[in-house]
Amino acid sequence: MGSLTDKLLGLQLYKDWHSNFPREHLSLESAFPEMVLSEERVDKLAQRMDLKGMRILELGCLEGAHSLILQKRGAKEVLSVEGRKDNFLKCLTVKNAFGLDKCRFILGDLEEVLPCLSKRFDICFASGILYHLVNPMAALFRISELTTKGLFVWTHYSTVQSPKGPVLKIEYNGRTYRGKHVRENLKDCLSGLSRDSFWMLEEDLFRVVRECGFGDIEVIQKEVHKHGPAVTFLARK
Ligand SMILES: C[S@@+](CC[C@H](N)C(=O)[O-])C[C@H]1O[C@@H](n2cnc3c(N)ncnc32)[C@H](O)[C@@H]1O
Repeated sequence: MGSLTDKLLGLQLYKDWHSNFPREHLSLESAFPEMVLSEERVDKLAQRMDLKGMRILELGCLEGAHSLILQKRGAKEVLSVEGRKDNFLKCLTVKNAFGLDKCRFILGDLEEVLPCLSKRFDICFASGILYHLVNPMAALFRISELTTKGLFVWTHYSTVQSPKGPVLKIEYNGRTYRGKHVRENLKDCLSGLSRDSFWMLEEDLFRVVRECGFGDIEVIQKEVHKHGPAVTFLARK
């Protein structure tokens, strides 16, 4: 059961929310209070880069929970791309309820949206998204063209053992990259938009990140996640 404030701000239009929002601070008549919000992945980035005044490109923003925290950590601008209509509408509801005046949301497949952008950002925040793409290499090269300072990533990658399946080779820009095809559950609001995504082998993932211009990679954490191996890293130019 949500509060009357939640209801009047439209947050009860959607039954299932994946993210936890600080709803207890919402008010109908006053702006959301100034406060530093905390979340594990944004915290890892903020410990390494001051987000104050940053222009941030966020990919696969789901319900806008990270967008909210990026704004609250001082970002000057957050442009967030989300490919699912229902998630996008939740983001707009969150933007209204929490007064996210620095955040703007785009509805579309980022593999189509990235080529349409021309503005430069300081950093790209790509949490939970690279392993949902058909061609993560193309996305990474485009991200690099659009950013001047860094790329923060949380992603799955593949190893010879995990996930199951043969190691495939894909050509991009005259180079070969190894990885595995993984079937997406398209009904899941967290999933990719195409039937199969390409989980790069770890070595090839870091190689393409360097090739596209982020020469300095700091591996922050590696995890044996229930869905497969995962890594958090910050790559700087
Ligand atoms: C696993 S969730 C990650 C959500 C959030 N960034 C996080 O780290 O908690 C992946 C999100 O990316 C979106 N998404 C997946 N593939 C996409 C694509 N090609 N273009 C845009 N959004 C996509 C999904 O709809 C979902 O909201």
